[in-house]
Amino acid sequence: DGELCLSRSLVNSSDKIIRKAGSSIFQHSVEGWKINSSLVLEIRYRKNILRFLDAERDVSVVKSSFKPGDVIHYVLDRRRTLNISHNLHSLLPEVSPMKNRRFKTCAVVGNSGILLDSECGKEIDSHNFVIRCNLAPVVEFAADVGTKSDFITMNPSVVQRAFGGFRNESDREKFVHRLSMLNDSVLWIPAFMVKGGEKHVEWVNALILKNKLKVRTAYPSLRLIHAVRGYWLTNKVPIKRPSTGLLMYTLATRFCDEIHLYGFWPFPKDLNGKAVKYHYYDDLKYRYFSNASPHRMPLEFKTLNVLHNRGALKLTTGKCV
Ligand code: CTP
Repeated sequence: DGELCLSRSLVNSSDKIIRKAGSSIFQHSVEGWKINSSLVLEIRYRKNILRFLDAERDVSVVKSSFKPGDVIHYVLDRRRTLNISHNLHSLLPEVSPMKNRRFKTCAVVGNSGILLDSECGKEIDSHNFVIRCNLAPVVEFAADVGTKSDFITMNPSVVQRAFGGFRNESDREKFVHRLSMLNDSVLWIPAFMVKGGEKHVEWVNALILKNKLKVRTAYPSLRLIHAVRGYWLTNKVPIKRPSTGLLMYTLATRFCDEIHLYGFWPFPKDLNGKAVKYHYYDDLKYRYFSNASPHRMPLEFKTLNVLHNRGALKLTTGKCV
C-alpha cells in the first residue's frame, strides 16, 4: 500500500515549493502519457479505501434514508440542524444516481482560467462521462471547455454568486434555462455541509419542481466528506476540506477506467509567468496560499500531479490541439 504515498516531508514542504509555481513538480508531460491500468484498479479496490468510501452510496442520500420533517445535523457544523422539507424529500433519488454505472473514459472539469484558449472543448466532450463543477457556464466557452455535462455540482452559494440570489424574475429564468440545458443529467447539490445555504437550496428545489425540470438531483451523503478525507489520509495526504474538484476525482475513481482532468490549476500564473484567472468565466479572486481559505488546492494539485506522472489519471493544463 506504500505505492501511492507521498512522503511526509514532501507534504510538509509543499507550501514552500508551491510558491514557486515554475518548479518542476508542476511539470507534467502529456506526450507519452500512458494509463497505468493496474494502478487504476489498485486505487479502486484498495481495501483500506473501500473501508472509508463507498462512492456509489456516498454520492447521494436516497429517499428511503429520510422522511419529511426529519432533522439532521450539518456535516461541518454539528451544532446546527436542518429540517428535511417535503420538496427536498421529493427530489431525493430512489437509488444512487451512479448505481451500476461504469465508463471507459471520464472528464472531470475544474474551473480554472487555465482552460481559456486551451481549445479543449472537443476533447472534453469526447469522453463517455463529463463531470463539471458549480454550474459553470459552457455555451460561451464551448471551444475551450466543451458543453457535455453528465454530472454537475452546485454549491448553494452559486445562487447568490451567479444568479443574483434569485432577486428578480430574470435571474430565476436564467437559472431555469441553465438547468433545462442539462436535460436528465445529475445535478449534485451539497446541501448538508454547512448552515447558510438552506434557503437557496429550497428555492432551487422549488424551481425544479415548478418547472418540471428533468435534471436528476442528488445530495451527497452525510459521510462523504469524512470518507474522502480518510481516503486521502491513508495516502498520507492531509486534506481537511477537499475541494469539489478533488471530491469529483475521488468519486470518479470508482466509476471510470480512465480519468482526464481539465481546468485544475490553482495558481495565479502559468509556467511561463502569464496571469491565470481563478475561474475561466468570472472575475472572482482567490487567495491561493491563505489559511483563510477552507481548501488546500495547491497541495491537492501536487498530489494529482504525482498521480498523473504514475499514469493513474491524466492532467491537462496546456492546449489540447
Ligand atoms: N480548481 C482549480 N484551480 C482553480 C479553480 C478551481 O484546480 N483555479 C478546481 C478545484 O478542484 C475546484 C474545482 O476546480 O474545487 C471547481 O472550481 P470552483 O467552482 O471554483 O470551486 P470553489 O467553489 O472555489 O471551491 P469548492 O466548490 O471546492 O468549495
